[in-house]
Amino acid sequence: MQQCARHVLRMTDTLTFRRPDDWHLHLRDGDMLRAVAPVTAAHFARAIVMPNLVPPVVCGEDAAAYRDRILASLPAGSSFEPLMTLYLTETTDADDVAAAAASGLVKAVKLYPAGATTNSASGVRDFDKVRAVLERMAEVGLPLCVHGEVTDPDIDIFDREAVFIDRVLDPLRRATPGLRCVLEHITTSNGIDYVKSAADGLGGTITAHHLIINRNHLLVGGIRPHYYCLPVAKREEHRLALRAAAVSGDARFFLGTDSAPHADAAKETGCGCAGCFTAPNTMSCLAHVFEEESALEKLEAFASLNGPLFYGLPANDDTITLQKDNEPVVYPAKIETGEGPLTVFDPGFDLYWRVA
Ligand code: NCD
Ligand code: ZN
Repeated sequence: MQQCARHVLRMTDTLTFRRPDDWHLHLRDGDMLRAVAPVTAAHFARAIVMPNLVPPVVCGEDAAAYRDRILASLPAGSSFEPLMTLYLTETTDADDVAAAAASGLVKAVKLYPAGATTNSASGVRDFDKVRAVLERMAEVGLPLCVHGEVTDPDIDIFDREAVFIDRVLDPLRRATPGLRCVLEHITTSNGIDYVKSAADGLGGTITAHHLIINRNHLLVGGIRPHYYCLPVAKREEHRLALRAAAVSGDARFFLGTDSAPHADAAKETGCGCAGCFTAPNTMSCLAHVFEEESALEKLEAFASLNGPLFYGLPANDDTITLQKDNEPVVYPAKIETGEGPLTVFDPGFDLYWRVA
């Protein structure tokens, strides 16, 4: 009898909370954009859209045109709102940034250290050259989203985030008081500790996949290109630190999926691109993780409340409902795109929470 009662309870497990946003997303352009934008728009109300196109989105005019292309790729009736970013280069113009922010078009500027990741060649090498822009951003309250990895070939790839914090991020924040920063896609306990050490003006995003995989998933028993992303997954102790921060409810931590689609042909090759495509199952993965951590009641803070709070935007009025089924959720292993098949992130276990 007891078994039966539990069974019935589980069948009706639902979770309704404010609609989530994604505070770090790659939507690409052209065929890929048309394939992936509707996937994110199905679950999320808004997303901070990364500017690392080829060529990158560097000025207000680029951002306005890209925003139009994103809106044109959404299903009819979608209310998804792309929140645009500018790619910081050594020639970025402070007035253009300030105007794009004042018009409401641009919600953040993105710092890629040159060469750190996909399409980051135009990133910053000499931080003195971006000083004026950063100071202007601090004045107008425009946040800087930071890809936190040094690119020095002498620094081991697994240490690049920790070294970046010491050598770049902390000095940069000290030199520009009042600049609001987001340490994006944190992968280490060092990153978590650093965000916690700041009283104000520093947030940290965490992806769903970094809550699930560590570097063994990537490398043990064969190399798994679909788990390769940047920053690369670290040791288990770091994954556990990310989990603790995500489920803590601490307002400084919020969801940035870093869903980064690359067609299979670009991943399954001798030199594969970095990026996990998590947009279709992020919410299922997160509910699974938060339930494992006995923290389902904190999922709303992480996915739907803390991000808007940091960006000074209202939380969404409408809601999302997650439902826990007895059978695993069926979602496609791949989606078709105009660039060929695109593999969906495989958490490595069955998911039972689905978006109703
Ligand atoms: C991103 C991409 O493919 O654009 N890749 C990734 O592994 N996350 C770039 C980035 O955010 O580093
Ligand atoms: Zn990214």
